[in-house]
Amino acid sequence: MTTLKTLDDLLHEHLSDLYDAETQILDALPLMAKQATAPVLRAAFEKHLEETKVQRATLDDIFADLGKKPADHRCKAMEGILREGQDFMKEKADPEVMDAGLIAAAQRVEHYEMAGYGCVRTWAKQLGMNSIAERLQKILDQEGETDHNLTKIAEKTINRRAVGE
Ligand SMILES: [Fe+2]
Repeated sequence: MTTLKTLDDLLHEHLSDLYDAETQILDALPLMAKQATAPVLRAAFEKHLEETKVQRATLDDIFADLGKKPADHRCKAMEGILREGQDFMKEKADPEVMDAGLIAAAQRVEHYEMAGYGCVRTWAKQLGMNSIAERLQKILDQEGETDHNLTKIAEKTINRRAVGE
């Protein structure tokens, strides 16, 4: 195991974690979109799939700017969050209830990402890497908007139907 000596080392480690997390999310989102019943929810997952592709490409650019490759690191937290989502998708549920559960699973993903991007954004700023910090802020904003949009979908459509209105 390598010794982390500087904030740069920690930044690299956490960017690698997020890179692997995004890669796992790219595999999971198409399955979640397929499982969603409400068209508005399916569309939200499909939109975020496209955003996630761009986010991972942005991370590729950031690694290139740093002159480093992502470390060989498995994000075990994302693996666990996604596995819970997969287990849930195997459960028998009414479509509206399944949709509500899919939103909950996706919001867990977004909140993990928001915590991660918030940290790396702050460290990049502290290290004077302004262009990298700006790009990380942009991803952070996008994850936040996705989370917000999922809440809106849940409140406006899904949860109402799930409680049988
Ligand atoms: Fe993401």
